Amino acid sequence: MPPASETAASALLDTPHRLEVTGLTRAFAARAVVSDVSLQVAAGQVTCLLGPSGCGKSTTLRMIAGVETPDNGRIQIDGHDVFGPSANLPPEARGVGLMFQDFALFPHLTVAGNVAFGLAGDKAAKMRRVDELLEKVNLSGFGVKHPHELSGGEQQRVALARALAPRPRVMLMDEPFSGLDNRLRDGIRDATLAVLKAEGAAVLLVTHEPEEAMRMADEIALMRDGRIVQRGAPYNVYNAPVDRAAAAFFSDINVIRGISKGALTETPFGAFLTPGHLDGAEVDIVIRPQHLKIDFDRAGRGPYPTMSEGTPARGTVLRARYLGHASLVEFRMDFDGSVLTASVPGVFLPKADTPLWLMIRRDRCYVFPAC
Ligand SMILES: Nc1ncnc2c1ncn2[C@@H]1O[C@H](COP(=O)(O)OP(=O)(O)OP(=O)(O)O)[C@@H](O)[C@H]1O
Ligand SMILES: [Mg+2]
Repeated sequence: MPPASETAASALLDTPHRLEVTGLTRAFAARAVVSDVSLQVAAGQVTCLLGPSGCGKSTTLRMIAGVETPDNGRIQIDGHDVFGPSANLPPEARGVGLMFQDFALFPHLTVAGNVAFGLAGDKAAKMRRVDELLEKVNLSGFGVKHPHELSGGEQQRVALARALAPRPRVMLMDEPFSGLDNRLRDGIRDATLAVLKAEGAAVLLVTHEPEEAMRMADEIALMRDGRIVQRGAPYNVYNAPVDRAAAAFFSDINVIRGISKGALTETPFGAFLTPGHLDGAEVDIVIRPQHLKIDFDRAGRGPYPTMSEGTPARGTVLRARYLGHASLVEFRMDFDGSVLTASVPGVFLPKADTPLWLMIRRDRCYVFPAC
């Protein structure tokens, strides 16, 4: 007999993902909008489908919900086909909850009536579930009100309670926070996350905002032109982007172009290791603004080179802006007149034309083929 730990591990492996999507594909008028999208979401996990406008996020979600028919692919919930070669369940038979940006509540129903809308069963059981959810979304006592008596944030929480009431196995959320003003949004995101985790549904949340995805997701699926280009924990997707565009989607980036020779690329900031790039190939060395280090000018000389930060290069300040948590300083570089941007925590506002030296944190730059 295998030891207990092995049995537990194999049981885990055998457990199907709550939501499993394989090779989902959809074209409109011969234009591919979603191409070969595969993803899995476990119960209690939040996956954010993140990407620029028009990349196919909503279409993917709509196919999983059952309101759009895929051209190809398979959608399984708890190991059962809800769409595939031999299945195409209607939305109401899939066990999914939906929450969209325009989460229209029924205006003629009370808050309790809205939340109870999709519930079956006897009245007492329904009311218990409604009370339980209103408490979870912090709206106990609001059951008798009507939607027009609520703020935008309160309405959003009612919509969340309504979507969760029938205990969906999968929650599909399309930009559910984009109608809320900025100050409300952070608090509501965190509260929503707590409720979703407590309910244990598998959540697929669509957003075009990297910050929202970083805040909400256990896993980010980065989408571009109908395809998922990278998947992983927020830390990994941010810190190990697959290409230049993936890096640029999360923050401003600086790019220094060079030519690889013998797995090295010479730049005004010293030589960078560029293994895997052929001799003569153009490469882009990509650095986020917070990974440029600034040092003072010492009568025309900069600091000494170091192993971790390479050779300093000089530039003059174009402009400096204070953003609250950090200052953003733009430089015109002496070596070719290009502009690089550094971000410094706190207040650092040097005057325009001040000469300063920049260095690149070697462990935080990425090398990609030039594009
Ligand atoms: N029913 C349709 N008929 C034709 N084209 C469509 C249809 N639905 C979506 N599209 C097109 O498919 C592309 C992807 O649309 P989709 O709504 O999935 O994008 P999105 O990633 O959700 O974008 P956004 O962030 O702006 O909401 C768009 O170019 C859109 O115009
Ligand atoms: Mg959309």
